[in-house]
Amino acid sequence: MPKWLDNAVFYEIYPQSFLDTNADGIGDFQGIIQKLDYIRDLGFNALWINPCFLSPFGDAGYDVADYCTAAPRYGTNEDLKRLFAQAHSRGIRVLLDLVPGHTSVEHPWFRESMKAEQNPYTHRYVWTDSIWESLEGYGCLRGISPRDGSCLLNFFSCQPALNYGFYQPEKPWQQSTEDEGPRATLEAMMDVMRFWLTMGCDGFRVDMAGSLVKNDPEGLGTIALWQKVRAFLDREFPDAALISEWGEPDKSLRGGFHMDFLLHFGPSHYNDLFRCPDPFFSEGGKGDASAFVAKYLESRKAAGPDGLICIPSGNHDMDRLARWVKGDQQFLAFLFLMTMPGAPFVYYGDEIGMRHVEGLTSVEGGYARTGARSPMQWDNGVNAGFSAAPKEKLYIPQDPDPARPTVKAGLADAGSLLNQIKALIALRQKNPALQSRGEIRFLVDGAPGQPLVYVRAFGGQRLLVILNPCREAARFSLEESLGQPLYTFGSPAVQADASVSVPGVSGGIYPLV
Ligand code: NOJ
Repeated sequence: MPKWLDNAVFYEIYPQSFLDTNADGIGDFQGIIQKLDYIRDLGFNALWINPCFLSPFGDAGYDVADYCTAAPRYGTNEDLKRLFAQAHSRGIRVLLDLVPGHTSVEHPWFRESMKAEQNPYTHRYVWTDSIWESLEGYGCLRGISPRDGSCLLNFFSCQPALNYGFYQPEKPWQQSTEDEGPRATLEAMMDVMRFWLTMGCDGFRVDMAGSLVKNDPEGLGTIALWQKVRAFLDREFPDAALISEWGEPDKSLRGGFHMDFLLHFGPSHYNDLFRCPDPFFSEGGKGDASAFVAKYLESRKAAGPDGLICIPSGNHDMDRLARWVKGDQQFLAFLFLMTMPGAPFVYYGDEIGMRHVEGLTSVEGGYARTGARSPMQWDNGVNAGFSAAPKEKLYIPQDPDPARPTVKAGLADAGSLLNQIKALIALRQKNPALQSRGEIRFLVDGAPGQPLVYVRAFGGQRLLVILNPCREAARFSLEESLGQPLYTFGSPAVQADASVSVPGVSGGIYPLV
């Protein structure tokens, strides 16, 4: 288990939209390098960069055409190598985004696989043996080449599924995970990992990690596959982190992932907190965190003592946090995110409360996600300091509001969300109880009208986190005594005997004495 995950705090960069240094309207590696000091100064010590490899960008780079070549619009492999080195010199680790489930239709493997003649790539993708046959539950590409078969899709129509086999093959064309084709696909993917890890990256966020083995409803074949990957990493790159987009920690962590994301889909109730009409982080008192808490505890139990679960502020697939969580509630949401176990992930721009840009036409397969991918707002200069290109050339239009939040304004205001996040990261770094591996015990589960209260503990340290997003004050019983707060938002909680009263819209971190 890479030790560095114990106190990692991640920042997610969607490279298209971070900083453009060559005035082409799109972000680049040099832009990320230029902002490493900003990232470090906020206290982040790890990055996740969305796919930055050669691609026709039908799905923003999740349609890879060459796993081992950087997309020229961002720079070269050498630039990326420099980015790793520059990040490391500031104590920042870098995760790349590995997309093992599918490629672009433009990948040379797929071009070969489309041929009628047998070749080494014939079984690199999942094909039926007649174009008249498809597989229930999967989309397919057919009639696109001389090969007489339908090719399974993993996501969009431009993303054919790589072949890792079927858990229980039922048809002649369905290979087992131990057949030669699926084994070669896995070897090829491990070569990709080896390539970037040797160049200096620190691990991977793995796209759709649960999707690899087909007809695998319990995920058993996919879990076994990832256990092989984990064994390879433990052998060759023991410090590399493996983090899954799976959303089911009970499966992913058994597969050897170090950490799994809670997502806006799947069973986690993550949306109850941040993205629904009455999220837990809202004033009206209708928000309910209790189903989230119940599922979270169940997942932690299934994850075992080593497995971590990470809770992101958002990502490039979700509505911006600020679309659902407003004003002061964002401060409380970040107090929550920065005091939960597992490493927190902050999506670029969420630290300044960037808004979801409404009414945009889809860009690069973004559809409704496009509004969460607009270019970073650095200052109040041209294009908010993102790019010197003409406005119409920007990758995605920016928030048109002249009062849009910016990093410059956030840095200048001691009471800004940005500075609060910085203070919370610093607190997390000082207090092991708040970090990835600290224990958690919920005292109040945030049912409607109730606060969310939990104890974080590590070694001898015990800290109580209290969150009351609701307008009304709340009360809960506590046998132990609250010490001087390490942090408060709004008015502090007041203890009288065995009862604590929590003012409306407030939160804090208190030692238990
Ligand atoms: C999940 C990624 O986060 C998303 O952006 C992408 O469209 C799909 N996987 C397909 O790769």
